Amino acid sequence: MKKFEIAVIPGDGIGKEVVPEAIRVLNKLSEIHGGFKLSYQEFPWGSDYYMQHGRMMPEDGMAQLEQSDVIFLGAVGDPSLVPDHISLNGLLLKIRREFEQVVNIRPAKQLEGIASPLSHPNDFDFIVVRENSEGEYSSSGGRVHSGEDEVVVQNAVFTKKAVSRVMNYAYQLAETRDSRLTSATKSNGIVHSMPFWDEVLKELSSDYPAVKVENFHIDALSAFMVTKPHSFDVIVASNLFGDILTDLGSAIMGSIGIAPSGNLNLNQKYPSMFEPVHGSAPDIVGQNLANPIGQIWTAKMMLDHLGESEAGAELLKAMEHVLKDGVKTPDIGGTSSTEEVTNAIIDRFSTVLQ
Ligand code: NAI
Ligand code: MG
Repeated sequence: MKKFEIAVIPGDGIGKEVVPEAIRVLNKLSEIHGGFKLSYQEFPWGSDYYMQHGRMMPEDGMAQLEQSDVIFLGAVGDPSLVPDHISLNGLLLKIRREFEQVVNIRPAKQLEGIASPLSHPNDFDFIVVRENSEGEYSSSGGRVHSGEDEVVVQNAVFTKKAVSRVMNYAYQLAETRDSRLTSATKSNGIVHSMPFWDEVLKELSSDYPAVKVENFHIDALSAFMVTKPHSFDVIVASNLFGDILTDLGSAIMGSIGIAPSGNLNLNQKYPSMFEPVHGSAPDIVGQNLANPIGQIWTAKMMLDHLGESEAGAELLKAMEHVLKDGVKTPDIGGTSSTEEVTNAIIDRFSTVLQ
């Protein structure tokens, strides 16, 4: 039997509510499925930890995490205790950076039972592959002079290595899906980095003859994501473009509370990390209102990553059944609590897995 070590970081706010729910689901699934075993080590790091220790994780925190096969994270940030730039940089972004999680994947799919705000969503099902290590978010630049003379420079850094890496991943992912790849560009306005982005895309295309490639400028692409989201399969984007497109992806699904994501380490040196797109939602914390679907769908992506895609598919099926039955939290128009949604998914396994 295969065994996987999972490092669990519930983090802050509703992270502490939805992570245990997803683990209940994972445990039931592995019990029924039988082919694999999950063991967990929980790390109580986050803003409360910061209030006690003056840091978001212990000094040897990264070494502790490195022992695991994969990291399962809830959400980080409690602005009432710690400024966001400190909490995010001290934990979440630190892990993404130091564990070389260079690609971020975020699926957007119209789930049965959840109403999209679009009037004609037409069963969209696409995945955004976002460059997660450089681009517009490289901290290169600075400020000089002051007052009227102030000059600010923010550099976007695009390396051949990182761009090829994310594009190869996207091409290969497209090959496992509908073999269609869309690239988000803006080579008409951003005249150095984006033509380079387009060149690398084209250069690599000969390695993937079966994949049909399309280029869209980011502005048009955003509009198409609203008017014809069903036309996309895999979308590859730079760090900033991917960030914006994936929030739009969550929005057209119906709620940020359902969107999952994975930060992937591609060189096998460090664990990858799976986390929902949403944050710690301080406005609803402690009320049993948090939608657990984002965290549970994230658990499905983690299972896929670990090679347990059959169990992952069963989990997605059970989740969709429950939503279709109307067992939903208030953010997606239901009246059920966090716990009731989880219980319904667990109950549903027995029906789906026959
Ligand atoms: P947020 O995602 O926490 O909340 C935005 C809105 O969506 C709120 O109205 C919230 O109630 C709702 N929401 C989010 N998740 C939900 C769920 N599962 N079920 C039902 N409703 C849900 O973003 P916000 O308010 O901007 O940030 C709050 C804190 O979270 C900040 O400290 C921020 O830095 C942090 N954050 C952390 C992220 C992460 O850990 N990856 C991502 C985004 C924000
Ligand atoms: Mg974002």
